[in-house]
Amino acid sequence: MTELDKRLFDKKVQITCLTLTGIKVSQVLPIIKKYLFKTEHFKPIQHGENGVNIFLNPEVVKEWSSFPTETQKALKDLNLSEANLKSADHTLTYDNFSVEDVLKAILPTDKEGKYLKFHKSEVLFDKVPGCKSVVNKVNMIDNTYRNFKMEVLKGVDDMLTTVKENSCTFKFDFSKVYWNSRLCTEHERIVKMLNPGDVLFDVFAGVGPFALPAAKKKCQVYANDLNPESFDWLVYNAKANKIDDKYFKSFNKDGGDFIKQDMKELLPNLLRDKKNVYIVMNLPALAVEFLSNFVGLLSESAIPETVKPPTVFVYCFAKGEDYNNIAKNLVVDGFGFDASDKIVELFRVRTVSSMKEMMRVKIRLDGDVLSGDVGKKRKLEDGLDVERMGKNKKINNVFKVAGAKSLKLKAKAKAIKNDLKNIKVKTKIKTTEIDKALVLLQDKVRQSPAPVQKPEVSQKSKLPTVNKEQALETQKKSNEAMENLDKMQL
Ligand SMILES: C[S@@+](CC[C@H](N)C(=O)[O-])C[C@H]1O[C@@H](n2cnc3c(N)ncnc32)[C@H](O)[C@@H]1O
Repeated sequence: MTELDKRLFDKKVQITCLTLTGIKVSQVLPIIKKYLFKTEHFKPIQHGENGVNIFLNPEVVKEWSSFPTETQKALKDLNLSEANLKSADHTLTYDNFSVEDVLKAILPTDKEGKYLKFHKSEVLFDKVPGCKSVVNKVNMIDNTYRNFKMEVLKGVDDMLTTVKENSCTFKFDFSKVYWNSRLCTEHERIVKMLNPGDVLFDVFAGVGPFALPAAKKKCQVYANDLNPESFDWLVYNAKANKIDDKYFKSFNKDGGDFIKQDMKELLPNLLRDKKNVYIVMNLPALAVEFLSNFVGLLSESAIPETVKPPTVFVYCFAKGEDYNNIAKNLVVDGFGFDASDKIVELFRVRTVSSMKEMMRVKIRLDGDVLSGDVGKKRKLEDGLDVERMGKNKKINNVFKVAGAKSLKLKAKAKAIKNDLKNIKVKTKIKTTEIDKALVLLQDKVRQSPAPVQKPEVSQKSKLPTVNKEQALETQKKSNEAMENLDKMQL
């Protein structure tokens, strides 16, 4: 049985009906509005031969006495009585049931779950207006570009789709880029906060749900995404929505590079021009890791103290009950110093699953963050605290490292390990070069009948600049560091 038999949904019901003759619907409606029979493809107010029929929910109103006394009185004041209330036979069909009702009716009987996907897709295909295909996610979103593999359950095998959101149209291939219609309200909330002339840096822009409505609003937008497919659709959608080039610039690079290169170059002038600068970072699984890029970003530019600090909206997933504190700690860890006084607002965007909230953290990027002074100062203060409070404080700090900061440290250790690996390889190459050069030199010296002084000088100049002892020392140090890291089991 893979066919959904829609006739099984045909159902005879008795619906209570209040008939009005010579009375306006507008007089009665305020009194009985909450009792109307509401279901799909059914009009609860219909014109009949004997007047206007108002159909009422039979589960609530079966007879006149079902109305509370005040309602009965209000209806009597309009000359309506028990005589106006009747039950009428009606056949409900598949069309009258909502998606939820249909699924509820199917699911309990589908114990094996074998036909579940099929039934769901069939119902959704029928009930969602304009539905072209129904797809099923076959894996979790865990890749860099946040898209997922899908199987087509119903309709055409074509993932090219167009959606409308916040007065823009977005076209994209759903199998290759990230899109989530559940974020529509959040996109709208952010765009509403912006005013024409404001500046928006969208670090993880996707196909443009923040960026394009903002640019349409005449904000100056710099939108970036690493996924080449997203980038192409972002550019396409900007054109399709007739976004003026002067308000919109797109980038296709890693978010960290976008901050360290393009934002670093653009920010000083924007701040001097007293622009309101907003930075949106919607990559909840990873975005906090990019926050450290802001520390000292403008250390080389002279930024007056009076500038308006840029505002960052960074998204993260808080897994646990105390979602505000969890989000705050993620941000602090991301910055690498106690940035709690830079946090302006913690906002719960949506519940992803039980104990997993998507959070938006609003951060003020003050001058001391951009200059890097805050990082230096607070690290110094941490050190003083440790000294002041003696051994116990030190022990506490060790536990802190092993706990909340371990993830970040692990990532850093990984990066250091990679760097050391590179150094090791480079050192090996250099040592081999030096060995070869020395062998050559020795041969030449041996073969040379003349005094060794001159050739020695000329041969020396051919040698790489690092001497062998230095190279061996570097290799020894990197080996030691690698061993230490391995011991830490990071
Ligand atoms: C969760 S989606 C958000 C897209 C869009 N801003 C939205 O609200 O729907 C995150 C986006 O970040 C992009 N991305 C992932 N890693 C990135 C990185 N390192 N640098 C820049 N973009 C990245 C993905 O391709 C994806 O489009």
